[in-house]
Amino acid sequence: MERLDGVRVLLGVSGGIAAYKAGIVARLLVGAGASVDTVLTRGAERFVGTATFEGLTGRPVRTEVWEDIATQTHVGLGRSADVALIYPATAHVMAKLAGGLADDLLTTTLLAATCPLVLAPAMHTEMWQHAATRHNAEVLRQRGAHLVGPDDGVLMGGDSGPGRVVDPQVAVDAVVAALEDRAATPDGQVSGSFAGRTAGVDRDLEGTRVLVTAGGTREPIDPVRFLGNRSSGKMGFALAEVAASRGADVVLVAAPSTLPTPAGVQRVDVTTALEMYHAVFAHIDAMDVVVKAAAVADFRPSSTATSKLKKDAGAPSIELVPNPDILAELGARRDGGADRPILVGFAAETDDVEAAGLAKLKRKGADLLVVNDVSANDAGFEVDTNRAILLDRDGGRVEVPLSSKAEVAGVVLDAVVARLRA
Ligand code: C5P
Repeated sequence: MERLDGVRVLLGVSGGIAAYKAGIVARLLVGAGASVDTVLTRGAERFVGTATFEGLTGRPVRTEVWEDIATQTHVGLGRSADVALIYPATAHVMAKLAGGLADDLLTTTLLAATCPLVLAPAMHTEMWQHAATRHNAEVLRQRGAHLVGPDDGVLMGGDSGPGRVVDPQVAVDAVVAALEDRAATPDGQVSGSFAGRTAGVDRDLEGTRVLVTAGGTREPIDPVRFLGNRSSGKMGFALAEVAASRGADVVLVAAPSTLPTPAGVQRVDVTTALEMYHAVFAHIDAMDVVVKAAAVADFRPSSTATSKLKKDAGAPSIELVPNPDILAELGARRDGGADRPILVGFAAETDDVEAAGLAKLKRKGADLLVVNDVSANDAGFEVDTNRAILLDRDGGRVEVPLSSKAEVAGVVLDAVVARLRA
């Protein structure tokens, strides 16, 4: 049985250059067993043709509200969809959806739809970072929409930055995750609060001060080289964004990242593990919660060359010295029995993931530990989705299926809220 057997997907394609990839999305959806109704906006029609989608889906493709009035196309399409995916979602279509406008077939259909909505934004970096788009994204998220991406990468015209549409497979995985999110029951593997949650609706972190660390630290070898790791910062940025949308005062201590600062978040940029250590301890006394999503280098070169090392001088031998373990130090500081700040750690593991996570939870003195299997290629480093096991120091365990990083953040913050209230 395929992952989307019998599922009716409404595929909305809006007018960005990334519309050309929507054909691959349609093919993947059909390949996964879905029945796909495609709606193209007028802008999309200038980039791609209806024939492509009719050929790929084997179903008529609609573009106009004024067709088929007698059978109420938009209401019918909206009502019959099990899930809607807008790929790509332009800044304009997001603005229209946030404002509830209905001036074409896609927006009219979506107003009539009650199914989960997945949006794959695609636009230039400036448009994505514009306060209006940030606001619209937040409004849509608060209303329960699942935003997947955008990625950081090459954009139209050779520019590069956040705004690139996610890969077709990632969008299809987000559709599956959105359906699982809705289908999950409290007695299933997924926690009750995760099932059917609409990320960001609650303001349950109002007045809570949350420090999040994100990204991978860089330990300089010389002025141009460093020891680093594959962390993109996406998980930590998602945590900061979701915490802020739930009312928290958030300080985001970010290792180098091109990701945009989430709305309402105070960002402190750092490069090395030592800088992160000092930034965390400068803020710690004011914090109720610390979430350590950063991948911190365990070791750094004992010295940094002041000039670029020359190849002619032969292979350098680099002596490494340990960095402080920030999370373990935070855990040790509470040894006297203090229950604040609540400490959340992350563990990226490749073998015997859960056992390694349990050992780490104890060793670091954390309250919660999010364990990722980073050997999977749809979870962990660099991608927009994650799958995790959330372990609690009191023996609690929540398995989070493949979900967007914002949804994983929602589950982690639910567990934090539960501890704050306990
Ligand atoms: O030991 P490991 O690096 O796997 O532990 C991961 C957790 O510990 C993460 O939450 C990470 O942010 C934190 N950590 C830290 N300082 C270090 C190394 C890891 O705070 N030097």
